[in-house]
Amino acid sequence: MNIEIRNNPITEIICDTLIISLFEEPNAITKTNDNHIDTLVREFLRDNPASGKYGEINMITILPFTSCKRILLLGLGKEADLTSDKIRHLSAIAIRSARKTHSKTVAAILYRTDTDKITPINIAKSMVEGTLLGNYQFLYYKTEQKDSKNIEKFTIINLNPSHQAQLEQAVVDATVIADSVNYARDLVNHPACYMTPSKLAASAIEMANQEKSIEVSVLNTQEMQQLGMGALLAVAQGSTEAPKLITLKYTGNKNSTDLIAYVGKGITFDSGGISLKPSNNMGEMKGDMAGAAAVLAAMQAIARLKPKTNLLAIIPCSENMPSGCALKPGDVIKSMSGYTIEIISTDAEGRLLLADAITYAKKLGATKIVDIATLTGACVVALGTITSGVITNNTAWCQQILSAAEQCGEKMWQLPAYDEYKEQIKSDIADLKNSGGRFAGAITAGLFIEKFTANTPWVHIDIAGTSDSASEKGYNVKGATGAPVRTLIQLAFNQDDL
Ligand code: BES
Ligand code: MN
Ligand code: ZN
Repeated sequence: MNIEIRNNPITEIICDTLIISLFEEPNAITKTNDNHIDTLVREFLRDNPASGKYGEINMITILPFTSCKRILLLGLGKEADLTSDKIRHLSAIAIRSARKTHSKTVAAILYRTDTDKITPINIAKSMVEGTLLGNYQFLYYKTEQKDSKNIEKFTIINLNPSHQAQLEQAVVDATVIADSVNYARDLVNHPACYMTPSKLAASAIEMANQEKSIEVSVLNTQEMQQLGMGALLAVAQGSTEAPKLITLKYTGNKNSTDLIAYVGKGITFDSGGISLKPSNNMGEMKGDMAGAAAVLAAMQAIARLKPKTNLLAIIPCSENMPSGCALKPGDVIKSMSGYTIEIISTDAEGRLLLADAITYAKKLGATKIVDIATLTGACVVALGTITSGVITNNTAWCQQILSAAEQCGEKMWQLPAYDEYKEQIKSDIADLKNSGGRFAGAITAGLFIEKFTANTPWVHIDIAGTSDSASEKGYNVKGATGAPVRTLIQLAFNQDDL
């Protein structure tokens, strides 16, 4: 979908569907400056006074003498309750309604609020994000439906000539961000037979080659052996698919020695290994590389938007499979850091991968770390599918991640990480064990990883519940959500202001 913002009069913008938004407050109609359309809307509202309620969608369809074939009236709810995230949600449901009418061209009037709570720039940005995210479809494996109901063009109409240049920039930025979220969704939605560690590495190389401002390298099994990555390799040893460790680097501030590492769990399929998972819904574990996808996609947007900060992306990729040479419960392995690990469950594989990836990030000079992982079912039990769980060893760094998340409407909640929980991952035979049992499972998994940070400021984001949506809901469609790509991009930009 091609996105643009124009400030022509409404009569000059020919489209299949024109979206006019209105607040719930009576008489709060968004004026189009086109008498004909304004009269039609006013008449419609006389018979349908509740059209401004949050999420209401009404179509006015038979329109003689107008530049649009139909008007879609979109209810914004009460003006004081409007947030950027609601705008994303509303833009998503509107674009899908328009798509159902087979519209090829859609235009939407940029509305404004009387309060300064949300600026026009912010509104335009959220409109674009919501539109592109809500319109997302994964059609790669559909042989017939391809291209059938695709919207070709979305135009935001700025009837007020002020801010046009800034608005144009906001539209470009939002397009980059949404395209990256959708890139992450594609990576996650592909089945594991396609999205193997090698394929993920190939996607990273392809992306980096296109973006220029990113350096990429990929370690193979032999190189990982030389580095002593015993934990990562232990996970990979049961599979015939070769593991890969992807490194991306973006330098946005040559004068700074700060280097933030984004580390993403890239298990392209998690069968559980010898500690095999039940077969019900096991297919969902193709999405166990959502952390990897989020990091890769965020780096794409960062390369395009160029924040003034330095970033490293470390993406350890492997399958977790049972076989004659697979890792076994009871085994003791040695990680790159030197710490030994007793394997309680081969299904607690993500933390093993992340342990070596974090040690490697530190070796490459990372001064702050964020890891993103579909790490525990326990996190889904604790926070459901709405909120990601966060664990940290550094309150100030954690606050930065939480505020970036809040700024872009991605929900995160910090879990406690008291030292007492560490009792649960002490091993009789090794330095630590890879499972702390059922109680506080999301916390003990985080604290396992914390051991390998060796006090480097670190935040862990458990996206087991939020990386995938069971149904269509606002700007998320069924399948991968692309969380928390937007937070990772925002966080990079927030470093500029520090
Ligand atoms: N990939 C899973 C966690 C997961 C569960 C992600 C549900 C998405 C949805 C992870 O590797 C795992 O299997 N964790 C175990 C840990 C346990 C064995 C300590 C779990 O949560 O059961
Ligand atoms: Mn697992
Ligand atoms: Zn897993």
